[in-house]
Amino acid sequence: MSTDSNKVAIVTGASRGIGAAIAERLAGEGFTVVVNYAGRAADAEALVTRIEAAGGRAIPAQADVSDAAAVARMFDAAQTAFGGIDVLVNNAGIMKLANLADSDDALFDSQVAVNLKGSFNTLREAAKRLRSGGRIINLSSSVVGLYQPTYGIYAATKAAVEAMTHVLAKELRGRAITVNAVAPGPTATALFLDGKPQQVIDHLAKLAPLERLGEPEDIAAAVAFLAGPDGAWINGQVLRANGGII
Ligand SMILES: NC(=O)c1ccc[n+]([C@@H]2O[C@H](COP(=O)([O-])OP(=O)(O)OC[C@H]3O[C@@H](n4cnc5c(N)ncnc54)[C@H](OP(=O)(O)O)[C@@H]3O)[C@@H](O)[C@H]2O)c1
Repeated sequence: MSTDSNKVAIVTGASRGIGAAIAERLAGEGFTVVVNYAGRAADAEALVTRIEAAGGRAIPAQADVSDAAAVARMFDAAQTAFGGIDVLVNNAGIMKLANLADSDDALFDSQVAVNLKGSFNTLREAAKRLRSGGRIINLSSSVVGLYQPTYGIYAATKAAVEAMTHVLAKELRGRAITVNAVAPGPTATALFLDGKPQQVIDHLAKLAPLERLGEPEDIAAAVAFLAGPDGAWINGQVLRANGGII
């Protein structure tokens, strides 16, 4: 166990994909992890069991991040259970692709609700409650920069998350809390793979000079760096973890 053994991290959207890998990695580094999820209770509980079997400490926490009251309750529960919160990883997110001309209101509203309002809800709580020495890590995306067709609304929500990252880093002056974003490129999770023909996946996998998709563990490593002692001097930055795609 590392020096982070008394620290508490909330990871949103940790029932699968990148969030699950982040939760497992941080637990392995000694953080007590709050495994947030919206719908997949069984997956979140299985992850907690896996973390505990490896000697770590975790609890599952259901909360739809787009629901401000539910987010506040989750922070309350973490504070009551563990005495405080040190790290927020804002990972919960959804992606729905369509040209702007073909995007209906529901497609816009759902992505704004989870990716943007959800991040705002958790950032607001974290800004009030994180202990000195804390870390906030937001998940953006390398589509902010690539700006491919069909990614307009999704990219807009992530650009907004990056904007809040920069602003909150400055607002927390004097609290010894860093605020950064990690912006993955194409990463092998359901969010990226579902609904894409294999040839599109193969094409996107070859775009980065490292010529493969990211794995959730690649992104977890970047988040762990920012959450751990070696990331202490990084603040207000966006770290693109993408094999060099942009
Ligand atoms: N995969 C990529 O290529 C890629 C690239 C760039 C950025 N990202 C970003 O990385 C993050 C993780 O993506 P992923 O690929 O791991 O996605 P994923 O496999 O679809 O997992 C998404 C996670 O978010 C949770 N979630 C969704 N809506 C939620 C809500 N309203 N409240 C709480 N949790 C919610 C899901 O929980 P339940 O299923 O339990 O509801 C699930 O655990 C996202 O922010 C995504 O935008 C991904």
